[in-house]
Order: sequence, then structure tokens, then C-alpha cells
Amino acid sequence: MDNFNFYSPTEFVFGRDRAEETGRYVNKHGGTKVLIHYGGGSAVKSGLIDIVKKSLGDADIAYCELGGVKPNPRDTLVYKGIELCRKEGVDFILAVGGGSVIDSSKAIALGVPYDGDFWDFYSGKTPEKALPVGTVLTIAAAGSEGSGNSIITKEDGLLKRGARNDILRPRFSIMDPALTQTLPAYQTACGATDIMAHVFERYFTNTREVEITDRLCEAVLLTMIKETPRVIADPDNYDARANIMWAGMVAHNNICGVGRQQDWNSHGLEHELSALYDVTHGAGLAVIMPAWMEYVHDHNVLRFCQMATRVFGCRMYFEDPESTALEGIRRFRSFLHSIGMPINFEELGAKEEDIPKLVEKLGIGEGTRAGFMELNAEDVAGIYRIAAHASLQGMEE
Ligand code: NZQ
Ligand code: ZN
Repeated sequence: MDNFNFYSPTEFVFGRDRAEETGRYVNKHGGTKVLIHYGGGSAVKSGLIDIVKKSLGDADIAYCELGGVKPNPRDTLVYKGIELCRKEGVDFILAVGGGSVIDSSKAIALGVPYDGDFWDFYSGKTPEKALPVGTVLTIAAAGSEGSGNSIITKEDGLLKRGARNDILRPRFSIMDPALTQTLPAYQTACGATDIMAHVFERYFTNTREVEITDRLCEAVLLTMIKETPRVIADPDNYDARANIMWAGMVAHNNICGVGRQQDWNSHGLEHELSALYDVTHGAGLAVIMPAWMEYVHDHNVLRFCQMATRVFGCRMYFEDPESTALEGIRRFRSFLHSIGMPINFEELGAKEEDIPKLVEKLGIGEGTRAGFMELNAEDVAGIYRIAAHASLQGMEE
């Protein structure tokens, strides 16, 4: 196992009606003037924003607000948020929504105390300062409620890029599973796919002797396989929602990834799809992740056999490990299809003729992308091509 530091300072406030306590937690974490940042309206419609405002009011905390965050959040709104915070003297950003709202909040938090362009931090500069961020989560998916990451799309050139630093980890995250009951089934399934992908990006590693994190990863995956169909069939199932919500946090605050090399290539390849076509991140991953698995399985077929047997209940064919590995991948794709996810470019709304453009935007040039298996530009094109043509043919559904 590799050396590691694990710093996860976020206070998680989990359970029914906990959003009513928002003011108390802002207060506890030092906020006196808050920006309430939210998305396209779901949190207004559900009454959540009113609950949050009342709670802030009860705690005598002043606030201003900025809605309108789009999925795959844009830099343009971040600039508006920075300006507003400076004008209003905001000292705490409260994200009320999903990963997009949280990531936009983190970007504003970076930009307010910084003299230059906040985009510098999405182009490789290490941040040193950020305003504190708290979240009231409304969708189990990106894991931004516990992560030190933020992903923003620059409208000019459609570049989707990330910043990562522990100072971006939220001070607190309020997680009421009941808030996710209003999600359309498609968004629930996209979120579930993203959660599983966050685990797989850590599970496929070249580091040996990482039993504890392997087993944690498998626990999250098995939970998702059990609970996702339950919430798709019964959106009001609080307990299944609760398990998924916590799984989403555990999948991405890095407790499943410490001490091991990780592979974020599926996410990298997906971000080019969501940048170019504005598709939902989880849907893009449903198309990319099994294609990536197919392409790289030879690199360590036994690791794929481990996934196939422990996570997808496949029989191990000792005389033919490859067929066990491929069966595991088939079952993963079949599972994604069963929860309503697209499995190829056509179903996603992507175009095969754009593959050269997608590859170019990744900027690999003559080099490679590190990971479980190093990928050059030709490898990446190969993965996109598998994704373009994937089908369930010959698979049990
Ligand atoms: O904008 P509103 O009206 O709120 O609608 C949202 C949005 O349309 C809706 N929604 C959210 N909660 C709802 C709801 N609708 C009804 N009821 C509710 N309770 O769902 C849609 C998707 O929301 P979004 O915030 O975009 O979802 P998600 O949490 O999946 O976030 C996706 C973004 O996170 C990034 C992705 O790339 C993408 O930009 N990621 C961020 C990560 C991080 N910061 O650590 C890691 C991830 O790998 C990911 O890349
Ligand atoms: Zn993701």
C-alpha cells in the first residue's frame, strides 16, 4: 500500500429535515454573510430554498442569492457570483443543489479572494485560499459534498476542466435523502452511474495489497446494484435513497482510494463528451466506462475477474479467465441499461465522426495519459470507437 494523507474535514449532517438546521451550521462554521447559490429551479419549486432562508433568518445570518446554475456549470455564472460576493461582502458560500451547484460554489469561493482569473485554478495553478463552502445536497451523484474537487466548463472553447485541493472540501454538508425523492428517474440513474464510476476509477489500480480499499469499493458497488433498481421502481423509498446518498459520499471523498494508484481516464474521456454535447455526466460515463473496461481488461485480467466474481456474481472460469472478465463487463453494461442509461454514442447523442475532435481536445499529443493502463491518443480513439458501437447483443438483460 502506498503512503497517504487523508483529510476529510467536512461535517456531514444526515437525515430527514436536517435542512431546517442550515443556519446553525453556517453559524458554527463562521459564516456571517451568505451567498445562497442554486440551480435551475428544482430547489425553489420543492420549497427547499424557503426552508434554507428561514433557517438563516432564524440564526440572524444575512444572505444574498444567485440561482441559475446549469448542469455542467459554466464559468460565466462563476464570474457573476464572484462579483456579487465582493459587492455584498459575502464570507460564506452555501450551495443548495447537486454537483453542478456545489462545483460552481467552490469556483466562486476560489475566485473571491484571488486577484487574478479564477480559471487559473482550472488550468493547473494550486489554490491557497478559498471562502468556506457549505452544501445542502439534493442529488446523490457527483460526491462534491465531500470532495475537494470542482469541475467547470469554460464556454469559450467548451473546455471542461477541474480544480482539486483539500481547501475545497465543504465545511459541512447537509444530506437529507428525502430531498432526492423529487428527482426524475433518469437523473437518479445518472447519479448512480457516476457513483459507481467513482469507485471503479479507484478500483482499477496497479497497486498491490490494497485489500481494505478493494473491499470498501466492492461494498459501495454492491450497495448501488441493490438499491438503484429499488429507487427506480419506488422513488419514495427513503431507506434505499439514504443508502445511495451515503454511498455517493463514500465513493468520492477518497476513503476508497487512499494508498493506491488511481485511474481517472473514463472521467477524462467523459468530460469531453459532456463539454461537447452537454450530456449528463453520468450518462456519458455509462457509455465510456464499460468501453474503457473492454479496452484495458487485458492489462490485468485477474483484477477484472475479481470485479466479475465479487461484484457481479459471475462464475470464475479458471481455465479461461478472460471470459470471466468479459462477462463481468457485460453484466455492468447490462445493469446500466436496465436502469435506463444509454450504452452507445447514438443513445447518448454523440457522433462517431467527432472522435478525432474529442481526442484532440484531450490534448494528449504524442504523450500518454497515466492510469491503470497508460493511454496514447490511438488508445483513446479506440475506447471512443468501442463506446460508439457498444450493444447488448448476446447479453442477458
Ligand atoms: O438545476 P436544477 O433545477 O436544480 O435541476 C437539477 C439538474 O437539472 C436536477 N436536480 C438536482 N436535484 C434535484 C433535481 N431535480 C429534482 N429534484 C431534485 N432533488 O438534476 C439535474 C442535475 O443536477 P447536477 O447538479 O448537474 O447533478 P450532479 O450532482 O450529477 O452534478 C454533475 C456535475 O458534477 C461534476 C460533473 O462533471 C457535472 O458537471 N462532477 C463533479 C465532481 C466533484 N466536484 O467532485 C466529480 C464528478 O466526477 C463530476 O465530474
Ligand atoms: Zn463523476
